[in-house]
Amino acid sequence: MSGKDRIIVALDVESGDCAVELVQQLKGHVGVFKAGLELVTAEGTQILKRLRDAGAERIFYDGKLHDIPNTVAGAMRSVTRLGAWCVTVHATGGYAQLAAAVKAACETADNEHLSRPKILAVTVLTSIGAEALANEMKVGLSVSEYVAELAKMAQKAGCDGVIASPHEIEVVRQAVNDPNFLIITPGVRPAGADKGDQARVMTPSEAIQRGANYLVIGRPILAAADPVAAANTIAEEISQALA
Ligand code: C5P
Repeated sequence: MSGKDRIIVALDVESGDCAVELVQQLKGHVGVFKAGLELVTAEGTQILKRLRDAGAERIFYDGKLHDIPNTVAGAMRSVTRLGAWCVTVHATGGYAQLAAAVKAACETADNEHLSRPKILAVTVLTSIGAEALANEMKVGLSVSEYVAELAKMAQKAGCDGVIASPHEIEVVRQAVNDPNFLIITPGVRPAGADKGDQARVMTPSEAIQRGANYLVIGRPILAAADPVAAANTIAEEISQALA
């Protein structure tokens, strides 16, 4: 996999036309396109087909599912039929919810001869810092300890990996001890870029060196004057870090 293949562009835009235009511009320069809450709420899940038709080979459906196991299982059956490469489920929904998501995706893929989407558990959002975790969410563990526990639970439930901040990559690798367990990290900012609302950021090369498999990058590419040039610069930085 080259540097560009490890970039997942977050298509955090409000219209399908805008997202399609970005796919047309960026295909060949990044590996995966992520459709998340803003885009899918505006356009419906049929946007995934439009993105595919525009040239997005791999689509990350950032549905951030979080509900009772029965409901999440139903959603996963539909997600499997959408043909997404990957889908996210909140780990804080608990073990039974994650296991139900995995089971539903496997069964649907087997019964209907489809490929199963990779299931990634969201650990702690990268916008949540230590203070918010302790004071607002009343979690008695440090961010690292909590992420490690959630990652172990996700592995046990059969998830393919986790979404975690670059700061927790090493802790997840230690907790899970499986080189095939995927770690996808948002909260990535090239040196000097605006952090926005992300609390725990790192540069692309630091995140790759620590062991991230893929980087989710939104505003540093979307808000750049030249998104293709921004993606190419990040891809080059990743390639150098891999070398
Ligand atoms: O613009 P920026 O690079 O901050 O975008 C990060 C993307 O990653 C957003 O689409 C956001 O929803 C997503 N994300 C995140 N933190 C997580 C999980 C997903 O920022 N823990």
